Amino acid sequence: MSGAKPGGHTLGWAVVGCGLVARDYVIPALQGARNARLVALCDPDAEALMRIQADDVVRHTALDAALADRSVEAVYIATPNHLHAAMTEACAAAGKHVLCEKPMAITAQDGLRMLSACRRAGVHYATAFDQRHHAAHRKLRTLVKEGVLGTITQARIHYACWLPADWAPNNWRIDPEQAGGGAMIDLAPHGLDLLEVVLGDEWQSLVAMTQRRVHDYAVDDGAVLMGQFRGGALGVLQVAYNCPDAYPRRTLELIGTRARALAYKTMGQTPGGTLSLTDATTGEETWLPLSPDEDQSPFRNQVEAFSECVLEGRPQPFAPERDVRLVGLLSVALHAGKAFPPCH
Ligand SMILES: NC(=O)c1ccc[n+]([C@@H]2O[C@H](COP(=O)([O-])OP(=O)(O)OC[C@H]3O[C@@H](n4cnc5c(N)ncnc54)[C@H](O)[C@@H]3O)[C@@H](O)[C@H]2O)c1
Repeated sequence: MSGAKPGGHTLGWAVVGCGLVARDYVIPALQGARNARLVALCDPDAEALMRIQADDVVRHTALDAALADRSVEAVYIATPNHLHAAMTEACAAAGKHVLCEKPMAITAQDGLRMLSACRRAGVHYATAFDQRHHAAHRKLRTLVKEGVLGTITQARIHYACWLPADWAPNNWRIDPEQAGGGAMIDLAPHGLDLLEVVLGDEWQSLVAMTQRRVHDYAVDDGAVLMGQFRGGALGVLQVAYNCPDAYPRRTLELIGTRARALAYKTMGQTPGGTLSLTDATTGEETWLPLSPDEDQSPFRNQVEAFSECVLEGRPQPFAPERDVRLVGLLSVALHAGKAFPPCH
């Protein structure tokens, strides 16, 4: 589906970078979104560009050409990490709103450049933290806010996969220059954002230990991050590229004095998974249904929420300064924890 949606005002989008995340999640989300229309695609790889199934879109091999297109009002940046900063600056200079894949940037300095470019141009900026738009995570936020879990003492996330060196042709994820790190910089941003959002709190501290235990490449293949929120809760994130895919490895657990919440297979790119509460007194576990209306692609929820703020002239719910703060926290923890020995 493409073109204007019947009966409503829609925002015109270009997707820059037509690889895995764009093809499988972002483009279908924009095509299905009630208030967005996909008008252009951009990728220097002509094959990647042509692989995308979409009618009525203009395909560009250069960013400048996409940005010159007046029907493009917003850009979804889905390129390797090292390109996010310069591309955001170019989009902002052309007056386009930006939704940029995580990690926002490799360094906080780059994040600051992005932030000031968007401020100067008066365009919206948000980092694409799709997981906070998953129906289970939205429900968790409500449960925490309503006090259903009591005082949250600890939060724990396990988010991991198996990513060998030959996982993709020209695997940029294991190139320190293009990725900025390995499993930690790729996977931890989701959990760092998500726990702040569901707890309604801010990380006050963060430390990390990284490893290169299994795969023979130049970046970490696993990490454990640990920190404390301003309100006092402790958080632990386990992320890895060295976890066999057959294991359960997408869990989010909040321990509260009244109940424990467990979201299973909700972290990731797709809807579905389960959410349960275990009562602190009886130990009884109950599963909470996710409303079918809300339990759609988190990417679709995300582009609809971003488009709505732009179309209605409302600020995005999180200021970009906050995303720069998360980049800074992660980067300090990554460099302090970078002491992994050679893989054996
Ligand atoms: N939110 C999520 O769950 C999620 C999942 C996967 C990837 N990502 C993020 O999305 C981004 C892309 O990851 P991916 O897995 O799709 O990578 P990918 O390698 O599959 O795709 C990247 C694409 O960018 C293109 N590209 C390179 N240089 C470009 C340029 N100058 N202009 C336009 N396009 C260019 C490449 O040709 C390629 O098609 C990364 O930042 C990654 O961290 C997020």
